[in-house]
Amino acid sequence: QLRGVVALDGPSGTGKSTVSRELASSLGARYLDTGAMYRAVTLAVLRAAVDPADGVEVERVARAVELVMGTDPLGPGVALDGTDVAAEIRGAEVTGAVSAVSAVAAVRELLVEHQRAVVRAALDQPGGIVVEGRDIGTVVAPDAGLKVFLTASSDARALRRSAQDNAEGRAGDVASTRADVQRRDALDSGRAVSPLRRADDAVELDTTELGVGEVIEQLHKLVERRG
Ligand code: C5P
Repeated sequence: QLRGVVALDGPSGTGKSTVSRELASSLGARYLDTGAMYRAVTLAVLRAAVDPADGVEVERVARAVELVMGTDPLGPGVALDGTDVAAEIRGAEVTGAVSAVSAVAAVRELLVEHQRAVVRAALDQPGGIVVEGRDIGTVVAPDAGLKVFLTASSDARALRRSAQDNAEGRAGDVASTRADVQRRDALDSGRAVSPLRRADDAVELDTTELGVGEVIEQLHKLVERRG
C-alpha cells in the first residue's frame, strides 16, 4: 500500500475541496486538486476557441499547454503557461464545459500521468499528500492508504455550491446551481472513461447533516485507524 496518500473522491458540493485542504493542512501534508487540472485544460480549450466536444482538437490543446500545480493546502496555485488561473477556472464558462473536456480519454491519460508524478514527488517528503477528485481511489492512486468517498443529498450539494459561488462573488441561485450540479453528476458518472464511482475499498461518508469540523473529525479518525 502507498502509505501517505489519502484519496478523497465524490461529486461536487459535498464539501470535498474545503475538507481536503483542511485535512492536508492539519496533517502537514501536500494537497492536489485534480478538478483544477481539468478546469485549467478547459480554460485553455475555451481560450483557443475549440469546441469542448471535439476530442481531437481538445487533445491537441491539452498536449500544448504547460500546467504547473501548486500543492500548498493553504494556497494551491494553478499556473497555465506561466500565469496563475486559480480564480478564472472557477467561472461559469469553465464549469459548463469541464465535463465534456474531462470525458476525452487522451486528456485523462495526460492528466493522470501528471497527477501520479505529483503524488510520487510528495511521497519523497514527510507528511504525505491528500488528493481530491473523482477517480483518485479507482484510477490515479488505487493503492492509497486511505480512500474516502464523500456524498450528500443533491439539495445539500446545490445549497453549498450556490453559497460558495455567492461568497466568492459569482452569481448563482440555488435552482440553476442544482440543475448544473445534476447535469455534471450525470455526465461525470455516465462517461465511458473513469466514471465517478466509489472504489470498493473506499469508506463512504455522507456529509448531508455534517458541518466541516465534523467531517474533518471523522477523517482524522479514519487516518489514525489506517495509520
Ligand atoms: O472538483 P471540480 O468540481 O473542480 O471538478 C470539475 C470537473 O472536473 C468535474 O465535474 C469532472 O468533470 C472533472 N474531474 C474529473 N476527474 C477528476 C476531477 C475532476 O473528471 N479526478
